[in-house]
Amino acid sequence: MTIQKNISLKEFNTFHVEASAKYFCEINDINELESVITDSRFRNEQKLILGGGSNLLFTKDFNGIVIKNNIGGIELLSEDEESVIIKVGAGNNWDEFVEYTVSSGFNGLENLSLIPGTVGASPIQNIGAYGVEVKDVIKSVNGFSLDNYEMRTFSNSECKFGYRDSIFKNELRNKFIVTSVVFNLSENRKVKSNYEAIKNYFSEKNITEITPSEIRKAVIEIRKSKLPDPREIGNAGSFFKNPIISEENFEKIKSDYPDLNGYKVDDNSVKISAGWLIEKCGLKGRRIKDVGIYDKQALVIVNYGNASGMEIKNLAEEIRDIVLDKFNISLRFEVNIL
Ligand code: FAD
Ligand code: EPU
Repeated sequence: MTIQKNISLKEFNTFHVEASAKYFCEINDINELESVITDSRFRNEQKLILGGGSNLLFTKDFNGIVIKNNIGGIELLSEDEESVIIKVGAGNNWDEFVEYTVSSGFNGLENLSLIPGTVGASPIQNIGAYGVEVKDVIKSVNGFSLDNYEMRTFSNSECKFGYRDSIFKNELRNKFIVTSVVFNLSENRKVKSNYEAIKNYFSEKNITEITPSEIRKAVIEIRKSKLPDPREIGNAGSFFKNPIISEENFEKIKSDYPDLNGYKVDDNSVKISAGWLIEKCGLKGRRIKDVGIYDKQALVIVNYGNASGMEIKNLAEEIRDIVLDKFNISLRFEVNIL
């Protein structure tokens, strides 16, 4: 394993912002991971485990060691009429894995098609899209603890999954490195086609026999129509989480803005669209130098070329302040700011 010094991270983050790492290495298996973590040269260095760099923003150089995770491997642990249990190395590309499950007839991940990044990052923020969250099909998460240098397995409930949230973003932030994820898929699981955009897609096309591969196709088409491809325009998907507000506050805003939509999350709380709030503030499509608010999806901040991480963060803070001022709702960042 080669340790590089002072290397540029520009090609390792989908915002394509410039930042450098004091040390950088790529690990291909658990042994390499252990040897770099326990190396006395790096014991007191800050550590950043990096997947596809599609949910983070570098605002400065990283003064520590960046460990790029390339742990591969897909292992079918068991398969019967009820379920298919698969263990997947954390460094696998997420969408290539989804493609593999769909083409193998293992259902459960098709709604999460085309999300960038790695398998190992999927439990960190409990990735979600089009009516499914990855927690719905995760059986367990394996990894390496930076506290005691031991391997540990977390069951689904121990991961404390929530909306864009898990134990790995909270108590275990920067303390646990996911090395593999075990999924519980099924050849018989019913497809989920209730999400508004998916329902509309199938009714417009008059498709009534909805298979997982049809769902994958639909999700890919819908996503391509509204989200920028990071290979062309730098971005990290939704910059903010959708806020959850009280039913009372929801009714109050709706009386002024009848087009507000919401999804009940429990008896007294409603999740509303941050993109809608940003759009209502007149910000959609706004551009300052090379930083902008994407014109097809106001939740996405984009780098049109040479924006710096700080410029992107400054715009995000400005958006947050404007929304707070107008709606008295404080948006939370989804993207990890470094
Ligand atoms: P990185 O950005 O490399 O890392 C993200 C965080 O996880 C960092 O804090 C990192 O240290 C940590 N991390 C990464 N790997 C590990 C590991 N093995 N062990 C411990 N910590 C780790 N997200 C959604 O949920 N739904 C979407 O629909 C969605 N759409 C997107 C669309 C676009 C165009 C883009 C650019 C992003 C989108 N995202 C979406 C966000 C992103 O793709 C996901 O969060 C993805 O899981 C990030 O994976 P990554 O490997 O790139 O993680
Ligand atoms: N909307 C607007 N204006 C906008 C954007 C959205 O009014 O500019 C409103 C519309 O009413 C639209 C609704 O918001 O119908 C929902 O929009 P969309 O389906 O695009 O979803 P989202 O709530 O903006 C969330 C996730 C996405 C995920 C999609 C699909 C969050 C923070 N974002 O976005 O995840 O792909 O749903 O399920 O929950 C990500 O996390 O990076 C991400 C892209």
